[in-house]
Amino acid sequence: MKLSILLFVTCFSLSTFAFDAEKYFGKVCATCHTIGGGDKIGPDLAGLSKRRKVDWIVKFINYPEGMINGDEEEEGYEKADPIAKKVYELYKPQMMAEQEVTKAQVVAILKYIDAKKKQPKGKITTLK
Ligand code: HEC
Repeated sequence: MKLSILLFVTCFSLSTFAFDAEKYFGKVCATCHTIGGGDKIGPDLAGLSKRRKVDWIVKFINYPEGMINGDEEEEGYEKADPIAKKVYELYKPQMMAEQEVTKAQVVAILKYIDAKKKQPKGKITTLK
């Protein structure tokens, strides 16, 4: 009896918390980013999968300030990242707020962005 309740609760929460990239983007990222609508507080994210590597994106979203300025105390962020620095130069003094995301979530977000088939209209349209 107890076990079946536990199973029910587990399945229920798993389905509730399944990652929905569209909802997540709308709730968390859309305040500052568009997809093909030009710059907002941050860059237009259309074409993101073509200009940045997935691992770079995961690292950036989890700790933008660490990527931009470097952080000796944080593993993997010891040195400032030259691309992040350039992006910041274009949008400062706004600095992106860090969000905890996994690689799988970033892959889902990139799929969602790519499905829109939009071209970036903001300041960043190329790889650099
Ligand atoms: C508070 C506003 C804000 C929020 C919320 C935000 N961003 Fe940003 N984002 C920025 C700014 C500003 C930049 C430009 C770099 C900087 O100045 O920090 C940026 C840069 C980026 C970049 C680098 C773009 C490039 O071309 O190199 C990515 C990727 C990114 N954001 C993804 C996201 C995602 C995904 C979310 C949602 C999880 C998100 N951001 C939420 C403000 C925000």
